[in-house]
Amino acid sequence: MSLYHIDQGRVAWRSPSNIAIVKYWGKHGRQLPRNASISLTLSAAHTDMYIDYGPRVVGRMVEDFQFAGTAKPAFADKIELFCNRITDRFGWLDKVSLSISSNNSFPHSSGIASSASSMSALALCLVEIDRKINDVPFSLDDLETLCLISDTARLGSGSACRSVYPQLAIWGHHDDLPTSDVHALPLEHVHDVFGTYHDDICIISDREKSVSSTAGHQLMVDNPYAAARYQQAQDRVSALADILRRGDVVAFGELAEAEALSLHGMMMCSAPPYLLIEPGTVEMIRAIHAYRSQSGVPVYFSLDAGPNIHLLYPTEVADVVASWRDEVLRPMCIDGRIIQDQVGSGPQRLA
Ligand code: DP6
Repeated sequence: MSLYHIDQGRVAWRSPSNIAIVKYWGKHGRQLPRNASISLTLSAAHTDMYIDYGPRVVGRMVEDFQFAGTAKPAFADKIELFCNRITDRFGWLDKVSLSISSNNSFPHSSGIASSASSMSALALCLVEIDRKINDVPFSLDDLETLCLISDTARLGSGSACRSVYPQLAIWGHHDDLPTSDVHALPLEHVHDVFGTYHDDICIISDREKSVSSTAGHQLMVDNPYAAARYQQAQDRVSALADILRRGDVVAFGELAEAEALSLHGMMMCSAPPYLLIEPGTVEMIRAIHAYRSQSGVPVYFSLDAGPNIHLLYPTEVADVVASWRDEVLRPMCIDGRIIQDQVGSGPQRLA
């Protein structure tokens, strides 16, 4: 006799990607970060996920996984593996059958990592199913529920835990701030200007990365500079919290660029060393620096674990940035591709 009464049902969520300003790079234990990180939640780059669930009679947990309308058995296997690792918190997963369909707003070959949006969408769906099966009300207005979603997303992909909050999120223990290693929290006391930020993702390369983020985190274990890097990140989280409070867009941009380069510096001094930036990345960084010093416009860049430039600026300079970007940066992008994103309001229910 099953402990759970499982009816058939459907849940569906849209969840955004995020860009870290202070980066998570290095982890331990069960997906616990070595340092705190702070991110902007995006909006245009997102995953839509629909899950039909019901009682399992025979067969496997993830019956079907469709990505952009095409069956992807390899993705189904990955999600089955992930769900089997979290039956300690969702015991009903052993009794359920899931049929999942998912889609990204950004093309698969855009060089954009989809793990933050997809794993946070999956976590939202799983926690809502959990609430339905246990007959408990579900609302994103409840911080405890958000923390459970964030914690579940973290187990799928560390950066995903920050995607569940609007605007800005903080994740990872910090001596001077109320934070947690197991889930992210919304970052409070942030000047309004940061809610207006644009992130134009300039596609320098759409090739698959040569070293995955998961492998990159692993290489931090023997990186001789790891301890100094973790301390640097903690110090930058303190500095950034203050910058965000004050609304200092210049200090914000300078810190974002320094962090992006520290992240890639860690890759270059791993054993074996590796390089994820491309000549086009460096060329674009130089163009951003030249434009900034000549115009005084507060436009800066960040990078995630790849070659693409995230162009960061407040909306008050959007018009002037757009004409320069389209004239100077767009020709440097693969097929002129730029994903124009902006700070967003977090996940959205689809059904
Ligand atoms: C450079 O979250 O993709 O984007 O936890 O192994 O899934 P896993 O790694 P992932 O790493 C993200 C690294 C980063 C920085 C960041 O988002 O903080």
